[in-house]
Amino acid sequence: MISNEMRDRLIAMAREASQNAYVPYSHFKVGAAILGEKGGIYTGCNVENASLGLTICAERNACTTMIAQGERRIAAVAIYGGEKGGEAAPCGACRQFMLEFADEALEAPLYFAGRDGSFVTSSFQEICPFPFRNFVGND
Ligand code: THU
Repeated sequence: MISNEMRDRLIAMAREASQNAYVPYSHFKVGAAILGEKGGIYTGCNVENASLGLTICAERNACTTMIAQGERRIAAVAIYGGEKGGEAAPCGACRQFMLEFADEALEAPLYFAGRDGSFVTSSFQEICPFPFRNFVGND
């Protein structure tokens, strides 16, 4: 169970991470903060490229940092993309990428945060209704 205090902390960290986004093409800054099951928090922002398809989303950046730090399971995710609009849900590629490291029951919460403190609470179960999970990556 994620406390409201932790949720708010993740949202604040996602927002802070979004400030470092490299977005000369879309001008759409996104930040993500992932809480690992061991208690660490890993952040990321989107990084665009002149070869547009090479752009990396904030969620995948946060997720690869989590893995590089030795954590393998996601306990909660906050995504902030709200400076220009409302709450930003993760793209399909990021859903699949994070799913690899979600909890078995897919109950880990995701918070899509917008400006003025607004946010939507969801879960992997809800955003990935027919999950493709070939194996669970514990290696
Ligand atoms: N973006 C993310 O960082 N996460 C998502 O889940 C959706 C899209 C970024 C990619 C690109 O830099 C910008 O938002 C516009 O698509």
